[in-house]
Amino acid sequence: MERTLVLIKPDAVQRGLIGEIILRLERRGLKLIAAKFLQVNQELAETHYAVHKGKPFYEGLVRYITSSPVMAMVWEGPNAIAAVRQTMGATRPTEAAPGTIRHDFALEVGRNLTHASDSPETAAQEIALWFKPEELYPWDRATDAWIM
Ligand code: PPS
Repeated sequence: MERTLVLIKPDAVQRGLIGEIILRLERRGLKLIAAKFLQVNQELAETHYAVHKGKPFYEGLVRYITSSPVMAMVWEGPNAIAAVRQTMGATRPTEAAPGTIRHDFALEVGRNLTHASDSPETAAQEIALWFKPEELYPWDRATDAWIM
């Protein structure tokens, strides 16, 4: 069982795609165990993207993620890290496979709608950065208790 951090970035929020993105992750079979809607400050943005500091796109990336609110979530499931990244599609939307979120809704890497952790180590670091342990709510899927 894995956990992964997903960010619905400002462009997706502005375009009304929160529901569409959550729908696809839920339908895939992943479980939402934490969520918050927040305005990202400079410090959080710089810590989250610290590994990219110095790259040509870094300043723009920090400006983009702090430009308007985001939805931060933790999703859980077997192979959740790979499954989420597959559902998102390639970082560059024009390289994303048809049927993925980035293929279906995006054109530019600088407006690619979502972020998802890329390894178990990164996922653990990112979840700890964005959520306190007590903000995670793991739960068991009931069978038919809710329809009887
Ligand atoms: S790298 O250099 O290969 O590690 O970069 P990459 O993994 O492709 O992308 C790292 C994050 O930077 C974002 N990115 C960009 N943002 C704006 N403009 C440009 N040109 C650009 N290139 C990469 C990319 O979306 C990644 O952000 P996240 O939030 O992790 O998806």
